[in-house]
Amino acid sequence: MSLLNSGLLIGLLAQQAAAWGDLGHETIGYVAQQFLAPKALAFVQSSLGSTYSESLGPAAPWADSVKYETAYEWSQPLHFVDANDNPPTSCSVEQTRDCGDDECILTAIANYTTRVVDTSLSASQRQEALKFIDHFLGDIGQPLHVENYEVGGNDIDAKCSGSSTNLHAAWDTGMLTKNVDANHGSSATTYASYLVGEIQSGSYQSLASSWLSCTSITEPVNNKRHTPSIESDIRNLLTVRAKDTTITPLECPLVWARDANAYDCTVVFPFSKDEDACTGTYYTNAIPVIDLQLAKQGYRLAAWLNVIFDGATNLP
Ligand SMILES: *[C@@H]1O[C@H](CO)[C@@H](O)[C@H](O)[C@H]1NC(C)=O
Ligand SMILES: [Zn+2]
Repeated sequence: MSLLNSGLLIGLLAQQAAAWGDLGHETIGYVAQQFLAPKALAFVQSSLGSTYSESLGPAAPWADSVKYETAYEWSQPLHFVDANDNPPTSCSVEQTRDCGDDECILTAIANYTTRVVDTSLSASQRQEALKFIDHFLGDIGQPLHVENYEVGGNDIDAKCSGSSTNLHAAWDTGMLTKNVDANHGSSATTYASYLVGEIQSGSYQSLASSWLSCTSITEPVNNKRHTPSIESDIRNLLTVRAKDTTITPLECPLVWARDANAYDCTVVFPFSKDEDACTGTYYTNAIPVIDLQLAKQGYRLAAWLNVIFDGATNLP
């Protein structure tokens, strides 16, 4: 193997051990792109430009592509939150317990939401903020990005269709790629169109509005009397807290993290070491969860940007 090839291979392996692979992130971006309101769409198109075909799909993997570069190493902890729960017995995400140093995906979403509309920043800084939002709203729906156990499953040996891998990588790429190859023409756009169809008039149609509510998907965030919503999160962040320099996390992303983390107890960690995740019952149980999480996070990403730029989710 040439040096060039081995470097490429190491890059690919590192990538696989890291996040919904490019396929998952692009799919989430393409789903979101279909639901953008007019001002959000205009910003996305002008900010991303021809480099990213004016679309959240091609821009979504960027944050993974830079995180091993020296200049972006600081961003690595922002791709996940290390829930110190006890799966599969009990699952939970707690802000203070799990994001204690304020450097996790929850604070990152708040940070880049503030920055994407900050007109004192340069166009490239705002584009970077958009690309981080595009990416982190994807990662927060991956059950193993909201889990500390066995380094988010990285330390659990697994197989995927006979090849050696680990449980985290099987969730990021192995099972997803197998499903998209078999059922969606090996294409992120074809797969995204299928998920959009399910949201508009298929099996997700009756569920989609509940994805945007930030109450009681798993457990109540707090006992406050107000109803958490994407609108209140963003209003609070961009107005009430605007003068505050500390980054306070938001309520909806915490609910979304808990929503994804709950699958660690039900579907992800009921797993025997060295089991083949890409065949049999494990695979058939996981695929509906992967489809659902990608569709959900794409829809939530659109709603998030719509509230930021158009003032309302603009979605049914
Ligand atoms: C907020 O964004 C800036 C600019 O990218 C970055 O330097 C900082 O680490 C970010 N903080 C968090 C918690 O995301
Ligand atoms: Zn990531």
